[in-house]
Amino acid sequence: MHHFDYQNGVLHAEGVPLPAIADAVGTPVYVYSSATLERHYKVFCEAVKPHQDHVFYAVKANGNLGVLMTLAKLGAGADTVSEGEIRKALAAGIPASRIVFSGVGKTGEELAFAVDAGIYQINVESEGELEALSRIAAARGRRQAIVLRVNPEIGAGGHAKITTGDAANKFGVSFSEAERLYAKAANMPGVSVKGLAAHIGSQVTEFSAYRAAFLKMRGVVESLRRQGHAVERLDLGGGVGIPYEMSYPYRHGTETLNAYGDMVREIAAGLDIELGFEPGRVIAGNAGILMTRVLYINTRADRSFLIVDAGMNDLVRPAMYEAWHEIWPVRQVAPDQELVRYDVVGPICETGDTFTTGRLLPKMQPGDLIVLKTAGAYGASMSSTYNQRRLVPEVLVKGTEYAVTRPRQTFEELIGLDRAPSWL
Ligand code: LLP
Repeated sequence: MHHFDYQNGVLHAEGVPLPAIADAVGTPVYVYSSATLERHYKVFCEAVKPHQDHVFYAVKANGNLGVLMTLAKLGAGADTVSEGEIRKALAAGIPASRIVFSGVGKTGEELAFAVDAGIYQINVESEGELEALSRIAAARGRRQAIVLRVNPEIGAGGHAKITTGDAANKFGVSFSEAERLYAKAANMPGVSVKGLAAHIGSQVTEFSAYRAAFLKMRGVVESLRRQGHAVERLDLGGGVGIPYEMSYPYRHGTETLNAYGDMVREIAAGLDIELGFEPGRVIAGNAGILMTRVLYINTRADRSFLIVDAGMNDLVRPAMYEAWHEIWPVRQVAPDQELVRYDVVGPICETGDTFTTGRLLPKMQPGDLIVLKTAGAYGASMSSTYNQRRLVPEVLVKGTEYAVTRPRQTFEELIGLDRAPSWL
């Protein structure tokens, strides 16, 4: 469910016609829908009741301030993976008491910052990190609440590069080490070990993998409790997948999320434990599009390249994960309109800068607008200035209003960060 639809033959974001944004802000541009963000967050919370107080939105999916503020207003927490993300979440009004900090490579400075900020929980991923954190917190006279991230040795996800729970992946402590490290943490001065965490991957559409991993996690909780440890929290990570293709058999929406919630409740039944969730894509994915303008059409004997002004630096998912994004023209296709197969490509100087090949679209002209759909998660947040292209602007729509929540980077900003060395 999203709020990008045709009205009078023109694609709108909620009540705003997309050409109006293209004219005012230029292209390429990310456009987000508040109503979609709000709906997804609420549906997710409803599905995981009564644990909805522990929904930590994964900031990495989309860390735009307007997006974070929209979710903060609904009471969302934040799952963060860097000092920058913690700062961004705080700036958006998410209180420290609702922030968790994950990641395999937290630096000493980042751990100190998180402890000083008084965040809710640090998800510790290795013995080295455990020791460093305890030292840092104890030196400050603090005991930081932590959970231990366990690698459940069951990976899942839409692509090998976004699977995290496999034994071969770098995340978390190994299953066999979990109990020893929990016991060790329980006796360390700077940490207060509250429980466990797991995250098996992203774009997970096979709930059987979740079931297997969560059952394993339940087993560890029970075993630790038998040994006399208090285990109060179980953070189940994020990863719930969304449909990128209209013909995709997997649907997300209330039904799928309710099924996820039911499964979680069933597995946690009788455990008397606080569950935590770190959804990213399922909240932001369908809430955003990348709008781009056709620059040229280069037709060869065997194919037509639709050259657009967005590139892989703006949306890297197709190049990086062979990801599919639906492409919609901003002007609605008439029923009798001629359809043409296009390779949709960007201006970047490498062949990987291809959004799709052989896609059926209405016959295009230079100047036409198209959108890459489901780009609200891992779109702008993964963008770069490759080819010295300015970071793409972001716009948040609410009803018939919109705001530029991140303007296009200026050339002064782009170049101004560099410094000339003294010898030149
Ligand atoms: N929690 C942890 C510990 C994570 O590593 C992630 C995502 C999440 C939560 C949120 O997962 P989500 O609900 O969004 O699936 N760039 C890739 C996705 C990378 C996901 C990394 N970790 C993509 O564009 O598909």
